Amino acid sequence: MQINKYKKNDILELDIVDMTNEGLGISKLYGQVFFVKDALIGDKVEVLITKITSSIIYAKTTSIIKESKDRVKAECSVANACGGCKLLSLNYQKQLELKKEYTLTCMSKIGRFGMSPHQGVIGANKIYNFRNKMQIPFAMRDGVIVYGFYAGRTHHIIEFENCVTGFNGSKLILDTIKGALKKFNLSIYDEKMQSGVFREVMLRKGNETGEVSITYILNDNNYKKHFDLYKKFDEYIVSTCNFAYHSDESSRRGEHCEPVVTIVTSTININTKNNNTILGNENIILHGKGYIEDSIGDVKYHISPESFYQVNSEMTKKLYDKIVEYGDFKGDENVLDLYCGIGTISLYVAKKVKSIVGVEVVKKAIENAKENAVLNSIDNVYFLEANLETDGDILDDVVTEKFKSGIDVVIVDPPRKGLDELTINYIKKIRPEKLIYVSCNPATLARDLDILCHAEMRNDEIVHNDSKHEPSYRLVNMINIDMFPHTMHVECVVLMSKANT
Ligand SMILES: C[S@@+](CC[C@H](N)C(=O)[O-])C[C@H]1O[C@@H](n2cnc3c(N)ncnc32)[C@H](O)[C@@H]1O
Repeated sequence: MQINKYKKNDILELDIVDMTNEGLGISKLYGQVFFVKDALIGDKVEVLITKITSSIIYAKTTSIIKESKDRVKAECSVANACGGCKLLSLNYQKQLELKKEYTLTCMSKIGRFGMSPHQGVIGANKIYNFRNKMQIPFAMRDGVIVYGFYAGRTHHIIEFENCVTGFNGSKLILDTIKGALKKFNLSIYDEKMQSGVFREVMLRKGNETGEVSITYILNDNNYKKHFDLYKKFDEYIVSTCNFAYHSDESSRRGEHCEPVVTIVTSTININTKNNNTILGNENIILHGKGYIEDSIGDVKYHISPESFYQVNSEMTKKLYDKIVEYGDFKGDENVLDLYCGIGTISLYVAKKVKSIVGVEVVKKAIENAKENAVLNSIDNVYFLEANLETDGDILDDVVTEKFKSGIDVVIVDPPRKGLDELTINYIKKIRPEKLIYVSCNPATLARDLDILCHAEMRNDEIVHNDSKHEPSYRLVNMINIDMFPHTMHVECVVLMSKANT
């Protein structure tokens, strides 16, 4: 009803009372909901209506009439245009409050949990330069090579001077690559024409070791023919960056000479598809071992470019410590670690339990996981390469063989889309005493816990069973961990225990 009152390009004044999980300001005017770009909770803004849908009006801020008391100076000149850090202008404590509120709203509205026990949010000590991984697209604009982040929902590159969340030293590498592209006359990929070679670069840095890997993502099926050129290109970048030293006062006096970065390996990744996936399937080592080494606590890891590794190392340790706390392991547990990546969680808890099986779909990640077990002299883990969406039988066979006395604890750490039907039904079938759910998406987390506790999943449909009063699992505790300062993304760890039914 309200929507008829407004039309596109109308200008109005709004008070922002909340934020969406995508970082848009929320305003309500006589029952009508507005989502407002570039506005923060507590702001009074003038806006221009950009789009009207059946229930929501979208608008963008044209000026701030009164600033929120929680506004702080953004440490990045392209924060609004880039959109990677939508909360950069919001005081950090307020960011944490919003993340907690969003999680609890998902738990009540989507998960149908009345009151959720919640231990709060563990905030980051380091809110700048915390990312250990950067994926940066390159393009040609008006005859000049540019790199940066894509502005939200577009493929328009916003250049940055020095990304405030990226790891120290990343700017040196990116600028050197930009110079080398020109020097070696490598063509830049053009999405529209689907021509040119150089698409993106992926950088990773070990937080503890400082080791850096570079992955050049290339649109080149004929890479073998150009291999020598790519090797020379890489040698130039590695030697330029590895011989750059910090130029602070003590370095200048010759007291110590710290290199800015230490690139230990480079790979090329071949991606010739014209879609949004960053990495293709083929990886070729240009120099080094093809992986970096890093550690979390006292566990060492080999990390290949195609393997998942949490992007915020400081907070990863806090996350894994919380898993250990929620597990309250006595040493005699059989543990199943689903979506195990390179075995990070399995190996972190291995010494505290009897045995673990880790399951993961990416072949290279399983190879890393097995190497990582050897690297840490851990022999009570078994890593299985399987697709949890389709390989239920394989999983069942391995679990039955490895865990004759049954499974006590299941840890799941799925991607943003959460668990699929097969996995939820498998957990319901094996009924472990404890389930520890690690999630980077409170909405899918709440949906999955609802199915686990209050519903059935049949042919991709959620069927609620409200007549059944006692749920099969109980929500014991949960906590948020802030892996991604300045964004609305938040990690959750949840402890569920089997109800006595
Ligand atoms: C959020 S990551 C967690 C990785 C690991 N637990 C960690 O802490 O580093 C999710 C992992 O699930 C894997 N994955 C995604 N879909 C999968 C599937 N259908 N079956 C098995 N693993 C899958 C991804 O490759 C990724 O390694």
